[in-house]
Amino acid sequence: MYGYRLGAIGIVTTFFIIIFSTVLMPMVLFNPKASGRGNDYKVIPLSVGDAARGRQIYVREGCFYCHTQFTRIQDRGYGPLVKEGDYVYETPHQLGTARTGPDLTNEGGRFPSQWQKAHLISPRAVKPGSIMPSFSYLSEQDMNDLVQYIQTLGNKRTVTAFVTPPDEYLPTTPQGRGLAARKTVDTTSDAAANAGRGIYTQNCAACHGLEGKGNGPNAITLEKKPPNLTRDYYKQYPDEHWFYRISEGVTGTRMPRFQSVLTEEQRWYLVAYLKTLPKEHEETIDNLDQLNVVEPTHLPVLTKQVYEPHHGKE
Ligand code: HEC
Ligand code: HEC
Repeated sequence: MYGYRLGAIGIVTTFFIIIFSTVLMPMVLFNPKASGRGNDYKVIPLSVGDAARGRQIYVREGCFYCHTQFTRIQDRGYGPLVKEGDYVYETPHQLGTARTGPDLTNEGGRFPSQWQKAHLISPRAVKPGSIMPSFSYLSEQDMNDLVQYIQTLGNKRTVTAFVTPPDEYLPTTPQGRGLAARKTVDTTSDAAANAGRGIYTQNCAACHGLEGKGNGPNAITLEKKPPNLTRDYYKQYPDEHWFYRISEGVTGTRMPRFQSVLTEEQRWYLVAYLKTLPKEHEETIDNLDQLNVVEPTHLPVLTKQVYEPHHGKE
């Protein structure tokens, strides 16, 4: 009789000791200093978008159910490790629960804003095979603010945009030679081109088209159209220049910077693949005489019996 009561008191006491030591004590005693690397929602002027409001929409839409915002020591490709002080001003924090989609700690600047918007409206238009739901029902304002929020994530990293290849992509500079020395992919081999083909289908075909002709399904929506990479002109590109273009994207267009999305090795595989795109000779007519040589188009002959639809009685 007495034993039961003692047991019950024991269980309750143990429960509260655990709650006290794992929840209440850390809440009071754990006060990390701001690391100075937290997200700064003010960097984006209000005239462009309200990143702080975008954060509320991120919370409201439950993006954190699929996206985390912490990088651990065992994570690769998600950028620098987070520290406790990064979260001082983050209430409620967006650590998230599961990684159905990738970690977004350093998502800012990874893709152009136009890309982010297109991705929110129709994830599969820019990422074939994506299982992210479409958020096309968001109002224009909500969508813009949300994109601005995404662009502030990890924004303590500065993103520079290049118009001409910076030193590290030039074969004549020490950094460029360093890049060449790290290159382990033989960009002339079939195996590398094959590997690149898969990466291309996943990341590029939506805009550049399966055959590289710039006619992917997403190209219709783009103001600046993706180029036809099979044109003669591109056959003169040296490896480093392809690599530079893929790594840095094209400023002012939706061509993303793949530097932080794909590894160096993956980008070299892409170079190998792009070099194998068949050469396309644009067919042009220079003078009227050539018009006569153009082959007439032969349409198949229609026979009445086969192709004429039946109209009732006859
Ligand atoms: C059901 C799970 C799910 C939800 C909810 C979801 N996402 Fe995603 N998200 C994904 C998956 C899976 C991917 C990877 C495929 C892709 O890029 O579309 C992804 C990719 C992304 C990317 C690209 C990341 C990168 O670097 O490749 C961004 C940005 C993103 N999501 C933002 C959001 C935002 C903002 C919301 C809320 C409005 C959201 N996601 C809600 C599953 C989800
Ligand atoms: C969201 C659409 C989009 C995606 C995805 C995309 N591109 Fe582009 N790409 C563009 C656009 C638009 C341009 C044209 C920019 C311009 O007008 O100069 C471009 C330009 C380029 C160029 C520069 C061509 C030149 O004239 O120097 C290369 C190379 C390229 N893309 C390769 C790729 C590769 C490889 C991938 C995949 C890893 C890829 N792109 C993914 C839209 C895209």
